[in-house]
Amino acid sequence: MKISAVQFMPEFGNLENNSSKILNYCEKINSDIILFPELAFSGYDFKNRQEAIELSEKFNTKYTKRIQEISSDLNKIICVGFVENLGDKLHNASALIFPKKEFSETYHKVHLFFRERFIFDESQKGFNVVKYADMDVNIGQIICYDWRFPEATRTLALLGADIVLCPANLVTTVWDISTPSRALENKVYFVVANRFGDENRNDTNLHFNGGSVIHNFNGSNLAKASLDKEEVIIAEIEPSNTRKKSFNEFNDIFSDRRPKFYSI
Ligand code: ACM
Repeated sequence: MKISAVQFMPEFGNLENNSSKILNYCEKINSDIILFPELAFSGYDFKNRQEAIELSEKFNTKYTKRIQEISSDLNKIICVGFVENLGDKLHNASALIFPKKEFSETYHKVHLFFRERFIFDESQKGFNVVKYADMDVNIGQIICYDWRFPEATRTLALLGADIVLCPANLVTTVWDISTPSRALENKVYFVVANRFGDENRNDTNLHFNGGSVIHNFNGSNLAKASLDKEEVIIAEIEPSNTRKKSFNEFNDIFSDRRPKFYSI
């Protein structure tokens, strides 16, 4: 199967332009799985919670509903970051949308970064893996800053993920020291769709670093984007090859674990 990550620069607050770009890529990219950045419809640096509410949607009502339609029509799995409005709660979320709608779900960012704590509510549902037998693929999600917590990817791997998708708006330059290890130590594909460019709001200039990547399950790069351009990266993957966790006749990275010695 083919997987793609789309690197682009959402224009803050311009739901219409950002969504038409996203929907257009969903239709045009010839991949089974397509990943977009964090908060791809709205942009990132909200002034306050009210501004985020104005740029939010209830899952499967507006732009995410259009993505569901494309996913079902074209048989593609699509993952995109958005502001999810649950009425009384607001989440930095990603929608993981499957051709069969009953499998589609959202993930709520577990580790909130920087000023996000003043905008969004904390996740109450944690991590999940969707097992999609029609395409023989098991997918888990984290969002951006979650990469700093190895427990997040480990949890998804122990839940049976073949692929960890990471929509991102990364502002540091150190993350790709770590993400190859998340792939290697869990034997999972690890895919980051980052945005690029600057957002100058709230007296702060945030610079986003691009460099979107598709890591193979041995930690190597199958595809890597530039730091500062709109770009689609693509790789051929075989999800079922991640499931056997042994690497010689005596060692298996999951059954060799000794959790009674770990204080996590
Ligand atoms: C981040 O979590 N957007 C850095």
